[in-house]
Amino acid sequence: MTQPHLTVIDHPLVQHKLSIMRKKDVSTAGFRRLLREISLLLAYEVTRELELTTTTIQTPIQEMQAPTLEGKKLALISLLRAGNGLLDGILEMIPSARVGFVGLYRDPQTLKPVEYYFKVPSLLDQRMTIVVDPMLATGNSAVAAVDMLKERGAKNMRFLCLLAAPEGVQRMKEAHPDVPIFTASLDERLDDHGYIVPGLGDAGDRMFGTK
Ligand code: URA
Repeated sequence: MTQPHLTVIDHPLVQHKLSIMRKKDVSTAGFRRLLREISLLLAYEVTRELELTTTTIQTPIQEMQAPTLEGKKLALISLLRAGNGLLDGILEMIPSARVGFVGLYRDPQTLKPVEYYFKVPSLLDQRMTIVVDPMLATGNSAVAAVDMLKERGAKNMRFLCLLAAPEGVQRMKEAHPDVPIFTASLDERLDDHGYIVPGLGDAGDRMFGTK
C-alpha cells in the first residue's frame, strides 16, 4: 500500500489528550505525561507498515506459525531536544528500537540549520527509520535532518510529529516527497516568530519546564 504524504491521526484519545496539552495552564508534569501517552498511540499508527514474517512457536496447545517483525530493528531518530519527549513514549512501545540523535541550531545570520550533534544507528538502509520531533513548523530542521539521514543510507523513512503547520508539510513535500508525515493535528499556520498557530507554544520549554 502506498502511504499518503500526510496522515493525521484523528483517534479520539489522541485528539482529547492533545486538546488538554494545548492548554496554557497545564503543568510541566501534566504536559510530559500526556505527551508520553500520546506517543504510545502515535507509535502504533506510524509502524502500521512494518513488515511481518512468521516464526514457528510452541503454544501450550500446539505448534503454530506466528507473525513476528521482519528484518532489522527499526531506528528512531530524535531531533534534539524536543524530540526526546516523543521518543520516550515510543521506546516504551518498541523497546528494541535503535536510537539516534540529531542536534541542529539555526544560524542567526543565514537562518539555516547547522549541525551540532549527529549520532545514528548503523545500517540505516536496512531499517525503517522514524524521525521524531513534536513540532513540524517551518520544516527547515526536518528537511535538513532527513537530508543527513539519507546521506547515511536511510531509505524507508517516516516523520512523526504532534503538530504540523501547512508551511512545514509543504516544505517537506517539496524536499522529501518519499517521506510520509504522521501528525496528531494539521494546525492553521505559522506566526511571524515561527510558532505554530493555534499550537501549544514551545514544546521543549513546556516539556522541560524551561523558559
Ligand atoms: N517549535 C515549537 O516548540 N513550537 C512551535 O510552535 C514551533 C516550533
